Amino acid sequence: MSDPSMLFENNREWAESVKKENPDYFNDLSAQQTPEYLWIGCSDSRIAANQIVGMEPGTIFVHRNIANVVVHTDLNCLSVMQYAVDVLKVRHIMVVGHYGCGGVLASLGNADNGLIDNWLEHIRDVKRKYHVELSSAETDEEKAERLVEYNVVEQVEHVCQTTVVRNAWKRGQELSVHGWVYDLRDGIVKDLHVSRQCND
Ligand code: CO
Repeated sequence: MSDPSMLFENNREWAESVKKENPDYFNDLSAQQTPEYLWIGCSDSRIAANQIVGMEPGTIFVHRNIANVVVHTDLNCLSVMQYAVDVLKVRHIMVVGHYGCGGVLASLGNADNGLIDNWLEHIRDVKRKYHVELSSAETDEEKAERLVEYNVVEQVEHVCQTTVVRNAWKRGQELSVHGWVYDLRDGIVKDLHVSRQCND
């Protein structure tokens, strides 16, 4: 069985190696965070937000949940957004879905998954909304990929509808909202070209 104490050993080795390369690294990092980006992504363990876009810690504020869903009444997500926009003054919010998302795949099936089915119902809402578009998919895989994309499009819309973003735009704050999809198979992030900004 795996041993979590191994993580402490890894941590010490990592901290040492980072300090060896740059003795000021942790001093600089602990001084402040001034991220320009808020990343709203999936909890999937294979997706390390900073790493896949080659950014250092301190540059991206992150919120993750199953299938990167932005629910109008989710106090957790809304609080992250408010802090990011009002206090940290991020310039960009990106909703980042990913192909092969377990949450999206589960929402396409009828299995009993327990409590999480309540959460997945938000994705089934997207599925119902884009029913016609999804029905033209030739394979189940293609259907799942399109739903991953439509889910991002829908969540971008939800981000724009929040009081946080609406108020930021009302006061003229520079803030853009983007929809991206990450492909685990080749590590490439794709822009869905649904970006929105003030006056759009
Ligand atoms: Co996922």
